[in-house]
Amino acid sequence: MSALEVVPADQLRIDKFDEHVLDLSFYWVNDPEIRTLIDGQHVDKAEQLRWFSTLGQRTDVLIRSIWHGNVAIGVMGLKHITSDDAEYWGYLGNKDYWGRQIGLWMIAEAVRLAQERGLRRIYLRVLPDNERAVRLYRKTGFHFVKTEDKLDPRFLVMERKIMANDQNVHE
Ligand SMILES: CC(C)(COP(=O)(O)OP(=O)(O)OC[C@H]1O[C@@H](n2cnc3c(N)ncnc32)[C@H](O)[C@@H]1OP(=O)(O)O)[C@@H](O)C(=O)NCCC(=O)NCCS
Repeated sequence: MSALEVVPADQLRIDKFDEHVLDLSFYWVNDPEIRTLIDGQHVDKAEQLRWFSTLGQRTDVLIRSIWHGNVAIGVMGLKHITSDDAEYWGYLGNKDYWGRQIGLWMIAEAVRLAQERGLRRIYLRVLPDNERAVRLYRKTGFHFVKTEDKLDPRFLVMERKIMANDQNVHE
C-alpha cells in the first residue's frame, strides 16, 4: 500500500479504548516524534495501568480507539469535559497512516461525540509548525484563539463551535 493512498472513511471506525489499544498506545506515546507533537509525557507501564483503571469512573474524559479494518491505528478523545465544552485530542500512532486524509474523519467523529454530550464548543492545543495538523483543523472549522496555553507556551489554542445540525465538518 502506498504511503499516500487515501483511506476511505467507510474502512474506518472508532471503538472502545481497551487493554489491547492501551498496550499499543504505550509505544505510541513514548515515540519521541509523536510525544513532541501531542505534548505527551513519558509514561511508565505501572503509571499507565493506574491511569487506565480510573477511566471507568471518570466523566471528564472520553477515549476511543481508531481502527482501519482489524488494525488499531490511533487514539482520540475529549478531555476536561464540562457541561459546555471539552478539549479535543487525537493522534494516529501508526505513522504509515499519516497524510492519508484520516484526519477529516477523526474531526467528524469528535464533533459527533461532542454533539452526543450536548457540548457547544471544542478546543485543542497544537504546535504552530505541525503543518499537517494545523491545515486539518483550519479546514474543519477551528480558529486560533488568543488564550495562552498554560501548560506550554509553544502550543497555540484553537476552538470550534459545535452546532446541533453540524453534520459536515468542512467549512
Ligand atoms: C494530525 C493528524 C491527525 C492529521 O491526520 P492525517 O490523516 O494525517 O492528515 P490529512 O492527510 O488529512 O492531512 C491534513 C492536511 O495536511 C496536509 N498534509 C499532509 N501531509 C503533510 C505534510 N507532511 N506537511 C504539510 N501538510 C501536510 C494535507 O494535504 C491536508 O491538507 P489539505 O486537505 O489542505 O490538502 C495525523 O497526521 C497525526 O496523528 N499526526 C501525528 C500526531 C499529531 O500531530 N497529532 C495532532 C496533535 S495537535
